[in-house]
Amino acid sequence: MPRSQSSRTPSRAPLLGVALAAFVAGCGQDAPPPPAFEAVHDMKETMNLVLDPAADVIWDSAGQVITAEGVEDLAPTTEEEWLQVVHAAAVLAESGNLLMMPSRALDQEDWVEISRGLTAAGQRAKAAALAEDADALFAAGGLLYNVCVSCHQQYWVNRPVRPSET
Ligand code: HEC
Repeated sequence: MPRSQSSRTPSRAPLLGVALAAFVAGCGQDAPPPPAFEAVHDMKETMNLVLDPAADVIWDSAGQVITAEGVEDLAPTTEEEWLQVVHAAAVLAESGNLLMMPSRALDQEDWVEISRGLTAAGQRAKAAALAEDADALFAAGGLLYNVCVSCHQQYWVNRPVRPSET
């Protein structure tokens, strides 16, 4: 660093200090309160209208199904189909935040951790779709399924019991 610049530094430091102090004071006193979020949908609607349709797009685009005609690969084949998966994955990733909103979160521990897991699974599905990587999308779909199930097992008390659980 040239000598002339380093010798100017000390005289600038106090100014920066004053500016910072003013900024911090401003945050404490005059900052407007954060916006009051309002959940538009109750939990059932959030599941049925936001999470479930998005998850179906992922699951319908991953793996294979066996039909009378043989094995059908579900992976997207066109740019447009991959983009639909990207969109659905983004909805799921953001849905983790929706579930953590104060009026939806049932507690601040496991509920929050599982909701973050939803965001992580959504991000993995999105990355897989952007890379058009069918194997990675299948893996992300499995992870996603586990996240849904782990929350339902813990918090959805009246959920239908599957034969495997009896
Ligand atoms: C953080 C917790 C949580 C996560 C994660 C979660 N759910 Fe739910 N889900 C619930 C709760 C709680 C209910 C019960 C809602 C009620 O009936 O009040 C529910 C209910 C449902 C229902 C039934 C709604 C109805 O009509 O009764 C569906 C479908 C559903 N979830 C789909 C999903 C899918 C798909 C995922 C994963 C992509 C998922 N959920 C992830 C908490 C969660």
